[in-house]
Amino acid sequence: MKKVTIHTLRKMKQAGERITMLTAYDASFARLLDQAQIDVLLVGDSLGMVVQGHDTTLPVTMDQMVYHCAAVARGTSRAHLVGDMPFGSYQASADEAVKNAMRLVAEGGMEAVKLEGGAEYCEVVERIVRAGIPVMGHIGLTPQSVHKMGGYVVQGRGEDKAARLIADARALEEAGCYSLILEAIPADLGAEITRGIAIPTVGIGAGLDCDGQVLVVYDLLGMNPEFSPKFVKKYANLAQVIGDAATRYREEVRGGAFPSAEHTFSSEKPSAPPAAVKLYSVAGRE
Ligand code: KIV
Repeated sequence: MKKVTIHTLRKMKQAGERITMLTAYDASFARLLDQAQIDVLLVGDSLGMVVQGHDTTLPVTMDQMVYHCAAVARGTSRAHLVGDMPFGSYQASADEAVKNAMRLVAEGGMEAVKLEGGAEYCEVVERIVRAGIPVMGHIGLTPQSVHKMGGYVVQGRGEDKAARLIADARALEEAGCYSLILEAIPADLGAEITRGIAIPTVGIGAGLDCDGQVLVVYDLLGMNPEFSPKFVKKYANLAQVIGDAATRYREEVRGGAFPSAEHTFSSEKPSAPPAAVKLYSVAGRE
């Protein structure tokens, strides 16, 4: 098992090998995705929506990010780990941005941080990189600017807007970003940006020609039947699987079929020394 690093990702771009990236928010998911050899795990502030139930990512705090990052880090051995800088953690000043990025690395066990925004964040990127922390940029649809964008709408349509995003990508590379998320932009623009910079691009709704792809893991697993945007492919229907399992459990408990003898302790002392009782299916305790 070879650890994925920022150098691995650059080499993958150079070799034309596509990068796989998914979000993770806890140790159990991280362990499964890591075992599936997903290259990059992002502890995204999307957790504000899919885990916490908010309408936007804006309420997510630094303390919450650190908590989820640390959980994901405990479940991961191979994947490269990226922690999202939440809204308010890097916009006010470069000093604050550096301190908060350091928390994601020192307390959260992350190996890089991600922040949203274009050329206007170059100084912040430079300062975090100078502190020894790799920075992944994020342009196009930047969910933390939902109110400025007037909703979650495709970005970079039209010559001027496309040119602006190309300039942002170059500026962020120049400032020291090691990789760039391209979110919800036309596929031809995704391809042009990818060709125009040496650092790997990872797309979400940005077409096939990005150097890699990222999805929110809950979307890929089909956890929310009401959420089916164009850029998401559902590789499973966990909403159905979880609903069915909970329904069967409810029926068996109500009908007295669970717990059966197989799942019940007797008062007789076992002749052999008792095996350790398994509590939950936690990593390393199975
Ligand atoms: O927060 C997040 O999950 C993200 C990805 C969608 C790129 O930023």
